[in-house]
Amino acid sequence: MIRDRNRLNHNTNILIRTILHLLRKNIRFIAIILILLTVLLNIINHSNSTSKPILAQFDYLNEDYTLPSKLDPSINNIISTNVTTNETETKLQEQTIKQKVISERLKSGYKKYNQNSTQYALVESLSNKGYRPRACLLITLFSPTGERIDHQDIYTTIESIQSKFNNWFGYTWILLSKDGNEYNDSKFMNKIDDLIQSDKIDVKFEIVNNDYLNQEPDWIDVNKIADSQIRLSGFEFGDSQFYRSINRYMVGYLPLETFLDEFDWVWRIEPGFQLLCDIDYDLFRWMQDRNQIFGFLISYMEPHKEKVENLWKIFKDFANDFKSKKDIVDFEKNNFQFNTEFKDLPNEKDEKKRKELEREAAKHGIGSGTSDYNRCQYVSNFQLININFFKSKPFIELFKRLDKEGGFYYHGWSASSVTTLAVNLLLKRDQIYFFDNIGFQLSSHSLTSSSSQISSISRNFYNCPIDDATYREFNCHCDQGLDFTFMKDSCTAKFYDSTGRKKPDDWDKH
Ligand SMILES: *[C@@H]1O[C@H](CO)[C@@H](O)[C@H](O)[C@H]1NC(C)=O
Ligand SMILES: *[C@@H]1O[C@H](CO)[C@@H](O)[C@H](O)[C@H]1NC(C)=O
Ligand SMILES: *[C@@H]1O[C@H](CO)[C@@H](O)[C@H](O)[C@H]1NC(C)=O
Ligand SMILES: *[C@@H]1O[C@H](CO)[C@@H](O)[C@H](O)[C@H]1NC(C)=O
Repeated sequence: MIRDRNRLNHNTNILIRTILHLLRKNIRFIAIILILLTVLLNIINHSNSTSKPILAQFDYLNEDYTLPSKLDPSINNIISTNVTTNETETKLQEQTIKQKVISERLKSGYKKYNQNSTQYALVESLSNKGYRPRACLLITLFSPTGERIDHQDIYTTIESIQSKFNNWFGYTWILLSKDGNEYNDSKFMNKIDDLIQSDKIDVKFEIVNNDYLNQEPDWIDVNKIADSQIRLSGFEFGDSQFYRSINRYMVGYLPLETFLDEFDWVWRIEPGFQLLCDIDYDLFRWMQDRNQIFGFLISYMEPHKEKVENLWKIFKDFANDFKSKKDIVDFEKNNFQFNTEFKDLPNEKDEKKRKELEREAAKHGIGSGTSDYNRCQYVSNFQLININFFKSKPFIELFKRLDKEGGFYYHGWSASSVTTLAVNLLLKRDQIYFFDNIGFQLSSHSLTSSSSQISSISRNFYNCPIDDATYREFNCHCDQGLDFTFMKDSCTAKFYDSTGRKKPDDWDKH
């Protein structure tokens, strides 16, 4: 190509010299030469531009393309399709290009990773970069202990997410019921139809696979469950059988349900959840295009060590077994530091130096006996996750061990504590993200009305961006003074530290 160009330049030089020579002789002849030259240059230009890949004309395939932080609300129109023949043609063309691009990305992606690794399981969904993600919003219709939820809470939540996010993007809703009772209630069904405008947006009505609720696996000792219900009865949800089964289901079995087969991304939502800021950019696309696998909105420290009994040991054993396999457990790249309390570090007053020591210690993993579990967890009830993570070989192997130990039943492990340790161990730390721009509150009638189940934590589920620019940009309506992110029981400051993210100004005044 370059050589051709040199030759071309050379030819052009000769031409110019000829012209200069002729200039002195015949002006009319020169005019003709000039015209010919222009035509020639045009042809060269034209052939240059068509030799570029045709893909370049689609901006979303351009590497430099960055998503707008705000999208035009008129994107709504894409939901109501009015397909004309020509649009169909364009779509077909784009489809062909998309298939070509994706098959090349798959080829190079699969080559890059060991097929037993977590990253391998993510290649397919991440190869979709630049295109609309296969994503859904999943709302559970039951309380953590399996009680019916006040329908008003469900309506409020769906309306809030529709008006502040999903009216612009039209992602599928999945309602998840314990038994399907709601779906026989025509008043409920009509209201859902109204709120979601189901002529434009898909809604799926699903039911928890009751096999997981009604019977324990055969290696579980039911007497031990009963003992633990008595032992933990003083703690939140401690005596609930439903809580035990549903947490196990949410982590290990929900992601495998066939109704989720068509999705890569799930945003979990609980009734009572309300957005306090707009989300006028495509959250899922944002995650997909930046290789973010797990997003959380809130974190806290589990106050009771009884509720995480044995968990640390199993993770430690797992990590040790895979110590030599860096593409499964890599302490230099993962975020396990977030969960680790370092015991034997030299006493270092200087904050920055201490963090460096911690980072260095974290690289050596958790096998050395110098560290302990700090019980920090990302609350999984609001997680945005690429569910292929739960289908990856390392996660399945890990889950099998956890399930065999029986801790979901015997110790009341929460989905949050298990998920947190798993993503921190198996993902890269730059694949985990805290959404500081999603302002929300959880004000659940059902939870607060049954005072015996009131959660000290859920009262604090309140996020309001403390960064003023973020607050304004996302049109927030909330009280920054109530933001939980940097409060005492939150672990998010630790997350900023372990991932090297810069905290907002004045974070320590909250
Ligand atoms: C679809 O487009 C045609 C022609 O542009 C128009 O007449 C028709 O009203 C449109 N239909 C809808 C549902 O928008
Ligand atoms: C498609 O576009 C061409 C011009 O590119 C036009 O002549 C033709 O009428 C269009 N067809 C339809 C069905 O709109
Ligand atoms: C993947 O795991 C299987 C066992 O599940 C093993 O036989 C195989 O060698 C592993 N492959 C690689 C590339 O590590
Ligand atoms: C819903 O209604 C159908 C038909 O009336 C009935 O067969 C089914 O058992 C009902 N489901 C529930 C959960 O009540």
